[in-house]
Amino acid sequence: DPVLRDLAQAKGKYYGTAVTASKLNGTYATIAGSQFDSITPGNEMKWESVEPSRGSYNWSGADAVVNFAQAHDMRVRGHTLVWHSQLPGWLTSGSWTADQLRTLMTDHITTEVGRYKGKISHWDVVNEPFNEDGTFRQSMWYTKLGQSYIADALRAARAADPDAKLYLNDYNTDGTGAKSDAMYNLVKSLKADGVPIDGVGFQGHLILGQVPSTMQANLQRFADLGVDVAVTELDIRMQLPVTDAKLAQQKADYKAVTSACAAVSRCKGVTVWGFTDSDSWIPDVFDGQGAATPYDENYQPKPAYYGIAEAL
Ligand code: XIL
Repeated sequence: DPVLRDLAQAKGKYYGTAVTASKLNGTYATIAGSQFDSITPGNEMKWESVEPSRGSYNWSGADAVVNFAQAHDMRVRGHTLVWHSQLPGWLTSGSWTADQLRTLMTDHITTEVGRYKGKISHWDVVNEPFNEDGTFRQSMWYTKLGQSYIADALRAARAADPDAKLYLNDYNTDGTGAKSDAMYNLVKSLKADGVPIDGVGFQGHLILGQVPSTMQANLQRFADLGVDVAVTELDIRMQLPVTDAKLAQQKADYKAVTSACAAVSRCKGVTVWGFTDSDSWIPDVFDGQGAATPYDENYQPKPAYYGIAEAL
């Protein structure tokens, strides 16, 4: 079988996968460490994972992913520092003043980015800041701190590791539209204000047969603002059961997304959100849907895997 990381590297890109740290052994680890040259912890670096009670940290899962990456010559995408979801209860239930909350946020960034200084190439600093209509999501960050939380988060991350590439990341921004326009305008204004922003992540949680036709043009317009871009959480879900026709469509879809990145010189790479259907969040969250990744539940490559290879 072709080796995705070698094909990507020949094009100056990376090909990555999200993983579950506790599964990094046996065939799962062999495929992750040989086919991919970038790794994203699916959950292990989220705030609720690393600081389940205030001031008491658990880095075991995060460390395991970083150590695995170093052993297999992979880069790490840190995910994620400031998000509305998967926050610890002590944080969401506290009644903080704005100043307290801002300090909690920046201290969290300083601690986590600092711990992995020099070991994490890219950070998703702020995740999912927008609503579908392009207004700011009413997260605790936005409602208590206003839009400035984004610049403050980026500045804290830059101070903690000046060499890490700092990204904003969101979903349903893959093609052009109101939400993508909002991200575009945000990046433009951050750049104008001198805020440290290096890249934009496009999650790529897509539906079979619905890769946006504007994806390449959309990636390019962000690149033209002077930032890197990446597809950070690619999966392409289908209504179950699987059929050969659906797998053929999925192959075309994976090929189209990978080709869009390959065609944009500032697109640094693609990360799939789990490489095997046995390790995908889709069946848990989207009723009746699944089979969203390039390998089946028995670690056999699907047509989608060959679609990726054809695009590289
Ligand atoms: C998902 C994980 O894959 C699941 O295991 C977890 O239960 C929920 O979060 N956008 C993101 C990711 O940025 O962090 C999410 O990951 C999927 C959607």
